[in-house]
Amino acid sequence: MKTIQSRLGIKLFLSYFVVILVGMFVIGVTANLTTPRAYARHLLFMEQQMGNGMGQGMGMGQGQGFGQGQGQGMGSGMISNFYQNFQNSFNEALVIAVVAASIVALAVSYVFSRNILAPVQVMKNASQRIAEGHYDERVPISGEDELHQLAGSFNKMAEQLEQVESMRRRLIGDVAHELRTPLTAIKGSAEGLMDGVLSASSETYSQIHAEAERLSRLVDDLQELSRVESRAAQLNIRPADSTAIIQTVTKRLRHQFDEKGVTLTLNLPHDPILVLADEDRIIQVLTNLIGNALQYTPFNGAVTVSIERDKNEARLSVRDTGYGIFAEHLKHIFDRFYRVDKSRSRAHGGSGIGLTIARHLVETHGGRIWAESAGENKGSVFVFTLPLAK
Ligand SMILES: Nc1ncnc2c1ncn2[C@@H]1O[C@H](COP(=O)(O)OP(=O)(O)OP(=O)(O)O)[C@@H](O)[C@H]1O
Ligand SMILES: [Mg+2]
Repeated sequence: MKTIQSRLGIKLFLSYFVVILVGMFVIGVTANLTTPRAYARHLLFMEQQMGNGMGQGMGMGQGQGFGQGQGQGMGSGMISNFYQNFQNSFNEALVIAVVAASIVALAVSYVFSRNILAPVQVMKNASQRIAEGHYDERVPISGEDELHQLAGSFNKMAEQLEQVESMRRRLIGDVAHELRTPLTAIKGSAEGLMDGVLSASSETYSQIHAEAERLSRLVDDLQELSRVESRAAQLNIRPADSTAIIQTVTKRLRHQFDEKGVTLTLNLPHDPILVLADEDRIIQVLTNLIGNALQYTPFNGAVTVSIERDKNEARLSVRDTGYGIFAEHLKHIFDRFYRVDKSRSRAHGGSGIGLTIARHLVETHGGRIWAESAGENKGSVFVFTLPLAK
């Protein structure tokens, strides 16, 4: 029974079969009911004809004379007449039976096809509603056959569309919000200059320049984000020495660490650890993480970058003794535009996209990325994994 319910093919086959059976049954019953009556009527008609043809007194009741006394010619005529009448009565019964069976078969087919096609109709209506922009539309699932499985996939698709749509709306809102801050600052400075409230000093100009710089960085970040989110960023994956990558990044950033007075320590093994990665992309991830560690660690703090093997992956971590992150923020910091302390991050020109890009890049490499922190001012550690090259 379960197999029947879960297979549309079997359902269709059985419904055809039932329609045929019902048709045959109706033909049988109707023929049974109508044949004797039609036959009796035709016999009566034949009897009357024979009575007319053979004179008074001759008829069906007088069995003696029937076929015997009337001679050979009469007998064969009567048989063909008899046969003709039988055929007529049979045809009449058959016509009635076929008409009755067709009506019943039509009714049964209508009910069956309506039941089988009901989910398709529901899906058709739902897809029309979705096309009109009602992304919350779903179809009810009450069975297990292929059409109901299709309804399940349809619902999943609708859910994805709804998510994409809400992401799109949120993104536009977020981008507008992010663009507004530097634009307002630039506009304010320009108006101050025009009204003579601000002096045309190099300080004012460099303020405007800094805001314009922030805008252009934001636009670059957004472009990069859309590239990695759409997975358009083609990765050039090949075996790469992860310790050498770390050294490249830290060499570039060391000067900034010295300037801020934050110690940078490397905790690397002597042997190279070969990972499967796109070197440039991993440099980008590490620059983000080490750059953050520097940004969110005050003077006299320390940042340690380490790498270790763990089963079939390499684990790279960036640990700092900085501001730390509260547990409630930890699960959000990889979300786009998420900043724990907006004013602090903004003061550094951060837009909250760096970690989102890092997560996408690590995940396209087949790795994972996460953050741990004991709480505010207790430092944090950012870890990501990469597959080891065989
Ligand atoms: N090492 C860290 N210590 C404390 N907080 C951190 C650290 N790294 C990231 N964060 C928090 O996570 C948020 C998101 O980081 P993310 O790198 O995505 O953005 P950002 O640094 O603000 O801007 P940008 O897009 O320029 O990198 C930061 O705003 C900060 O609040
Ligand atoms: Mg950052």
